[in-house]
Amino acid sequence: MTARHNASPPPAKTWSGRFSEPVAELVKRYTASVPFDRRMAAQDIRGSLAHARMLARQGIIAAADLADIERGMAQIESEIARGEFAWNLDDEDVHLNIEKRLTALVGDAGKRLHTGRSRNDQVATDIRLWLRDAIDQILALLAGFQRGLLDVAEAHAATPMPGFTHLQVAQPVTFGHHLLAYCEMARRDAERFADCRRRTNHLPLGAAALAGTTYPIDRESVARELGFEEICRNSLDAVSDRDFAIEFCAAGALLMTHLSRLSEELILWMSPRVGFIDLADRFCTGSSIMPQKKNPDVPELVRGKTGRINGHLVALLTLMKSQPLAYNKDNQEDKEPLFDTADTVIDTLRIYTDMITGIRVRADNMRAALAQGHATATDLADYLVKKGLPFRDAHEAVALAVREAEARGHDLSRFDLDELRAALGEVPGAAERLDADVLAALTIEGSLAARAHPGGTAPTAVRAAIARARAALEKET
Ligand code: ARG
Repeated sequence: MTARHNASPPPAKTWSGRFSEPVAELVKRYTASVPFDRRMAAQDIRGSLAHARMLARQGIIAAADLADIERGMAQIESEIARGEFAWNLDDEDVHLNIEKRLTALVGDAGKRLHTGRSRNDQVATDIRLWLRDAIDQILALLAGFQRGLLDVAEAHAATPMPGFTHLQVAQPVTFGHHLLAYCEMARRDAERFADCRRRTNHLPLGAAALAGTTYPIDRESVARELGFEEICRNSLDAVSDRDFAIEFCAAGALLMTHLSRLSEELILWMSPRVGFIDLADRFCTGSSIMPQKKNPDVPELVRGKTGRINGHLVALLTLMKSQPLAYNKDNQEDKEPLFDTADTVIDTLRIYTDMITGIRVRADNMRAALAQGHATATDLADYLVKKGLPFRDAHEAVALAVREAEARGHDLSRFDLDELRAALGEVPGAAERLDADVLAALTIEGSLAARAHPGGTAPTAVRAAIARARAALEKET
């Protein structure tokens, strides 16, 4: 037994002093995070430099040590940028890899960097810095996506298409109005990311492993240097909660869900059976067997990737739900779902903005579809109500007229005045309330124009909504 202790190899790992045998190969691979957390290297270095500067300001390390650390980190940064940094699985994660290299480059100063700090508050800081950058990128892309939607909406502020409920033709809307619905969703998505950014932007450093540290640190100055709004107020909370990452994934899942709905519509609209739009060829693929096919792969993949992103949200919630305070290694599992959510959202927004501004709208097909579903039946009922007929009577009379139009095999709007009077049937007070102006009310343009209130589908209302949305975007970005 005693011999075994003496025979153990010299410590290889940063923390291996108390261990009597090296970590098993499989365990090393199983527990290492460097294959995926090395993408936080820039944030790790930034955080370390801010920490080292504070240590020097507070007299905890010497100015000469700080100079060595800064010199070493500059070298490491350029090694990473040139792809020459030797990432090593033995050193577990991005933090230990960089610290070990620093020590190899500058000696004792490198060993002093970790004074008053733990990987627990270090990793929490790195993730927050990384996520803050990702959110800023997403906010800029969301603004661009909204601008793209607004441009297409403006071009089609007066292009009629059928509005659907239950996927049945309901009432005429304009294509511009339809797109503005997605613009509203994107605006709320941007609000959610901005809100999440506020809570992400707190500094964990200073919490150390869990209880704080005995050195005379100055957390506020580190927060200022790193651009954090404030410091995390409780050391246990600082190292252990990942609620900001969960919020981010929730905002990402909602955004993807919105884009998935739009994707579903693009796919339907592009079906030759519907033919409302065409996507540019660069967003589609052909079939290896059917030469005629042009498949909407990009929207289909957005719809598919939404499942993955929703899964990441559930993964992080589940990761957190049974963890006692404070840090647990479970938290290392936060990164892959988080990174993949950010990557997917960023790529999706990039591709979507290009795709949506490049769609070809087939207005003739939209109008032809509108001429088939008695889309202005509600307008006829509203007309009768405005002439004094109770709504339920008007509804019944129009239902009879629709039935008659169906029997004749044409749309309600094709009746002339006399035919329409007859078609309203025996409902007392209905037929005699019709005047010649009813025919205009039953046209698509008449139906659209009548909904000119804020939030309505009339071209005037759509243009006003676009102007408002543009002004809000300019103010925010
Ligand atoms: N790679 C670890 C993570 O991502 C860093 C923190 C490790 N802390 C520890 N006490 N083992 O969570």
